[in-house]
Amino acid sequence: MTTTLSAGAPPRVLGISGSLRRDSHNSRLLRAAGALLPPGAELEIWDGLKAIPPYDEDDETAGRPAAVEELDAAIRAADVVLFATPEYNHSLPGTLKNALDWLSRPLAGNALWRKPVAVVGASTGLFGAVWAQAELRKVLGALGAEVLDGELPVGLADGAFTADDGLADADLQARYGGLLAELAAAAPAPALAAAA
Ligand SMILES: Cc1cc2nc3c(=O)[nH]c(=O)nc-3n(C[C@H](O)[C@H](O)[C@H](O)COP(=O)(O)O)c2cc1C
Repeated sequence: MTTTLSAGAPPRVLGISGSLRRDSHNSRLLRAAGALLPPGAELEIWDGLKAIPPYDEDDETAGRPAAVEELDAAIRAADVVLFATPEYNHSLPGTLKNALDWLSRPLAGNALWRKPVAVVGASTGLFGAVWAQAELRKVLGALGAEVLDGELPVGLADGAFTADDGLADADLQARYGGLLAELAAAAPAPALAAAA
């Protein structure tokens, strides 16, 4: 269940939004990346989060649910992953944490193990989901991902986007482009060579 937003050679970037909401600012922030990634990069957005059932260790004996397997495969097929997270009560949404808990079993060699990832976030408040981004970076680190230090807090999200899904603030847009360039550069060498 992915949507390709820009055709081209690798690096392949998988976008994952932590919001299920139809008009989500965070899903919009992912779409904004399509125009800001370096030339040749390909962005796919995975939108299967709602189908992932609550984690139950007892269910592992029956094999992982299909929705979890789909997410696992999408991450493994990507060179890098871009997460956009809302902030719920100063943390990441439980639905996103739940998906990561599924992926983390077993920990060694999980889909995010050694995978370069970046985290951005939008919220309707002033601070742009900074706490949620920090917590998500922490969880991704626990899964062994190579988490970029950079963050992108998009505050006052109701007015932060242009009609064509860009960021209204030029400085923020430039910062986003810089972070995405860093993420693309973290892709494994063959992907970068193919994009050159
Ligand atoms: C359950 C819940 C908790 C929230 N907690 C916070 C919060 O702690 N900090 C914050 O800045 N915004 C908080 N918000 C507001 C969200 O930033 C806002 O709803 C945002 O638009 C959600 O992201 P989305 O547009 O991608 O769905 C909360 C919203 C919900 C529904």
